[in-house]
Amino acid sequence: MCGIIGYVGQRQAAPILLNGLRKLEYRGYDSSGIGVIDSKRGSIIVRKMPGKIAKLAALIERQPVGAARIGISHTRWATHGVPNKVNAHPHWDQSKKILVVHNGIIENYESIKKFLQSEGVRFISETDTEVVAQLIGFYYRGDFVSAVQKALVRLQGTFALGILCQDATETLITARIGSPLIIGVGEGEYFIASDVPAILEETRHIIYLKDGEMAVMKPDGIEVMTFKGKPLAPKVDTVKFNVDAVKKQGFPHYMLKEIHEQPSVLETMIKSRIKGNRVELEGVSLTDHQLKKLRNIVIVACGTAYHAGMIGRYLIERVAGLPVSVDAASEFRYRDPILNSQTLVVAISQSGETADTLAAVREAHKKGARVISICNVVGSSLARESDGVLYTHAGPEIGVASTKAYVAQITMLYFLALKLGSFTGKVPLAERKRIISALKHMPRLYEDILRHKTAIAKIAKKNSHFGCFLFLGRNINYPSALEGALKLKEISYIPAEGYAAGEMKHGPIALIDEYRAVVCMAPQSETYDKMISNMQEIRARKGKIIAIATEGDLSIRKHAHHVIYVPKTHHLLTPLAVALPFQLFAYYVAVQLGCDVDQPRNLAKSVTVE
Ligand code: AGP
Repeated sequence: MCGIIGYVGQRQAAPILLNGLRKLEYRGYDSSGIGVIDSKRGSIIVRKMPGKIAKLAALIERQPVGAARIGISHTRWATHGVPNKVNAHPHWDQSKKILVVHNGIIENYESIKKFLQSEGVRFISETDTEVVAQLIGFYYRGDFVSAVQKALVRLQGTFALGILCQDATETLITARIGSPLIIGVGEGEYFIASDVPAILEETRHIIYLKDGEMAVMKPDGIEVMTFKGKPLAPKVDTVKFNVDAVKKQGFPHYMLKEIHEQPSVLETMIKSRIKGNRVELEGVSLTDHQLKKLRNIVIVACGTAYHAGMIGRYLIERVAGLPVSVDAASEFRYRDPILNSQTLVVAISQSGETADTLAAVREAHKKGARVISICNVVGSSLARESDGVLYTHAGPEIGVASTKAYVAQITMLYFLALKLGSFTGKVPLAERKRIISALKHMPRLYEDILRHKTAIAKIAKKNSHFGCFLFLGRNINYPSALEGALKLKEISYIPAEGYAAGEMKHGPIALIDEYRAVVCMAPQSETYDKMISNMQEIRARKGKIIAIATEGDLSIRKHAHHVIYVPKTHHLLTPLAVALPFQLFAYYVAVQLGCDVDQPRNLAKSVTVE
């Protein structure tokens, strides 16, 4: 998500803009910039660059922007165009009179760009945002407000905008549809921001601009209106909450916020990639002909992404009939793998900066394999080094323990398996349609589970005293057991081991006694009966069982001490169904133990070192 700050008033703008951007860093970004109007010289000054805001601040130290009292600034989370200086905001029109910062996606930017280019307009960036600046510049004949209004009515998609015009040295314009933007009201000064925390230090008097509204601000006053200019009477609220709470949108931790974002992440992914019963793999960069020639797939990843990859193996082999191997990237890079031009390597990484995964991709390229990545960060190193990228667009994941990124990675693997399956015909179309229908229902299934999260919290609290956990799963939910164990151990620090349930008798059963808790992935599936047998063996040795089971399965209560129910779904989708409960279970255990859920000890969000 991008971040916007704007200011017009009596004070120097640059420090206010930078300070506001720093408060938006939590939203995740890859470049930043500011633009001001030096009213003495009547000129626009822009400073922008990729990387952290500290680098931008250092640049401004070296190249000051003067005592300008009006400006806009931006942190960019790249969607169109890699994170570099040219693509960073603010963007300007070719006359360099109009300056724009933007949060959102202009869906019709290509058609507007083509129109403007046909009118002789020259573009310099790969972004959709530049179209906004150029379009306003195209309409600008001296009336700033009217030029903005003419442009706004042509834009489709989502936008929150901060706009300046070199000739209107005391006028800040903002407008929004579909992306958040608020206005701060001060004494003879106004602020705009993507959210309240960014300007709470400056003022608590806020105007919540609504979709389809714009505002024209000068030090001596504000006018709020529709895009067509119909005047509106803005309501000024006084906010009372504290800053930190707002960043997490009311959730106590980023992890819980991100767990709750999963239904919308699923919804967005499914809507953008499933058209009817067809899967679109835009970004995969392999032609259908090349996809059809593939003979085997190797998945490489680390940690949670590795567990997602293991689920991907079951899916692609079941649905597409292609042989798949999965390697922890740190092992792959040293095992001298056998690869060739008919091997597709799929690298999975939320951050796209994990050193071992990057090294594995370089090894794969050396051996002649094609590489596509499933990645959450646009323009990351992994994305740049892959032959194709399937972006999950799950939004920034701040909590170190991966949740929505994991679910998004698995979901992308369903899409990949279905696409490959449409070529191989391994499963009939009817079965693929059943999987797609179950996928489309998954956001509702997640909302249903979230509605019952207090029951999961109760079970977690009741079992948070155990000194050791075993997570058991079979078949496609064996990786679910590994991921459930990882989630618990990395935020609660309780030793937790994930195991293939069929392996229990080959060793782990020695662990079972009344001091151990065992979490069993036991949804309705072809291996359900085998899991019940495992549970009987555990019960016989006084192990405490927490089962994740399918709604309506009452008989499992004879075997488990606690049951977390999930709605019924296609057996191949049960890894998605069980993920949310074990994420919540781990979260509530860690909270009960007073652990630092978002920043667990010893862990980094992205392991960029080997
Ligand atoms: C998962 O909760 C951990 N944060 C960690 O295992 C993570 O999945 C792993 O480091 C891989 O990170 P990546 O997806 O950014 O490559």
